[in-house]
Amino acid sequence: MSEQPFWGGTIRKLWPSESDKFRDHLLRLDKDSRRMRFAHAVSDNFIDDYAGRMNEMGAIVYGYLEGGEVRAVAELKKLGDTWGQEAEAAFSVEPGYQEKGIGTELMGRVIRAGRNRSVNHLYMSCLAENRKMQAIARKHEADLRFEYGEVIGEIVPIDPNYFSILAEAMDDRVGYLLAVLDVSRERTKKAA
Ligand SMILES: CC(C)(COP(=O)(O)OP(=O)(O)OC[C@H]1O[C@@H](n2cnc3c(N)ncnc32)[C@H](O)[C@@H]1OP(=O)(O)O)[C@@H](O)C(=O)NCCC(=O)NCCS
Repeated sequence: MSEQPFWGGTIRKLWPSESDKFRDHLLRLDKDSRRMRFAHAVSDNFIDDYAGRMNEMGAIVYGYLEGGEVRAVAELKKLGDTWGQEAEAAFSVEPGYQEKGIGTELMGRVIRAGRNRSVNHLYMSCLAENRKMQAIARKHEADLRFEYGEVIGEIVPIDPNYFSILAEAMDDRVGYLLAVLDVSRERTKKAA
C-alpha cells in the first residue's frame, strides 16, 4: 500500500535548463525500470540523447525533487507540432521511491496539464507485465486495452475550467519559488 504523501520532496515542472537533472534521473533507473519505461532495454547513450532532446520535444515535464535531485518524472508530450486533442504521457520513478504514491500524484498533474491544453485523448503505453503502471492508470479511470503485448491506457480529461487553470497557475508559482530555492542551494553548495 502507498504511504501518505508528502514524501519529503516537492513536485514542480522542470525548467528547460534542468535537462541534466532529468538525464541523471533516467540514468539512475535500474535495468528493469528502464525497460518498463522505454518498453525495451536502453543504453546510457540512448538516455543521454533522449534527455538532451527534452526541450526540443516541447514536452511538459513534472519532476519530484528531493535534496535537489530529480527522483521521479512525468512527461506530457504533444503528438504533433502544437498541442492538439491528443497527447502522450510517460512516467518514471526511481526504485527507492516507488510505491509511495509519487507516480499517482504525478499522473494527476499530467492529466490536469493535458486538460488545461484541451487535450481530450491522453495516451500512455506500458508493457503488459507492468501492473503498477496499470494500477495507477486505473486509479485515474483510464480505459486500458491490450495491443501487441502492450497495454494502451486512454484517459479522457474533462474540459478545462477556471479552477483547473487557476490550480495549475498556482502550482507553477510555487514551483517557480521552489526552483529558485533549488538553484540558490546548489550555488551555496558549490561555493562552500
Ligand atoms: C510505474 C511507476 C511509474 C509507478 O509509480 P509509483 O510511484 O511506484 O506508483 P504509486 O505508488 O503511485 O502506485 C503504485 C500502485 O501500484 C500498486 N501495485 C504495486 N505492485 C502491484 C502489482 N504487482 N499488481 C497490481 N498493483 C500493484 C500499488 O499497490 C499502488 O497502488 P495503491 O496506491 O492503490 O496501493 C513506477 O513504478 C516506475 O517508474 N516504474 C518504472 C518505469 C515504468 O514502468 N514507467 C511506466 C511506463 S511509461
